[in-house]
Amino acid sequence: MISLTNRACNSGDIPEFDLVVIGEPGFVNVLTFMSSNVKSASLIETTKKQLENIMERTFAIIKPDAFAAGNAGKILARIYAEGFSVVGIKKLYMSKVEAEGFYYVHRERPFFGELTDFMSSGPCIVMVLEAEGAIAKWRDLMGATNPAEAAEGTMRKEFGASIGENATHGSDAPETAAFEIPFFFSGLELL
Ligand code: RTP
Ligand code: MG
Repeated sequence: MISLTNRACNSGDIPEFDLVVIGEPGFVNVLTFMSSNVKSASLIETTKKQLENIMERTFAIIKPDAFAAGNAGKILARIYAEGFSVVGIKKLYMSKVEAEGFYYVHRERPFFGELTDFMSSGPCIVMVLEAEGAIAKWRDLMGATNPAEAAEGTMRKEFGASIGENATHGSDAPETAAFEIPFFFSGLELL
């Protein structure tokens, strides 16, 4: 377990935690104390990078069209090849209400009904991807919203059929990722 805290502590607190961080997230010169329970140096390194805002997480979907067409494996292969870590992944069949909640920012848009019908039309794969600059990196790999305008080699160019059925989704900003990741994943699923 990793516990992050910005409260003052003394040495008597240390054995309760694998990693105790004093300071605000993003504050580089934090003090860290590692107890004897710490088993994973890489986990600690990843946590430090997140605190230093080097590592970033984004939320991604392999949409129902790409899943139904059997393209999930190819898309995942590209995700790994581009150097993302897949921190969370699961298949689910979104309900109409869940799709409406997830895409609520578009509720006033004319395509909202069509979009949420499509997203609830079949199974999809939801993921949390991690990399340096993950949000922009995944948006770049996805390509433009309309596959007809997407660059060669992008997921939407390769696997999208239309602006509505465009194979993948990605968070467009840190605040969006902060809403979308916990919409589908609990903290325990992202360890
Ligand atoms: P996404 O959220 O799915 O990653 O896509 P995006 O950021 O590139 O595009 P956004 O503006 O957020 O739109 C969300 C999804 O709505 C569908 N759409 N249809 N018919 C239309 O004019 C239209 N415009 C957008 C797309 O499927 C888009 O991915
Ligand atoms: Mg969007």
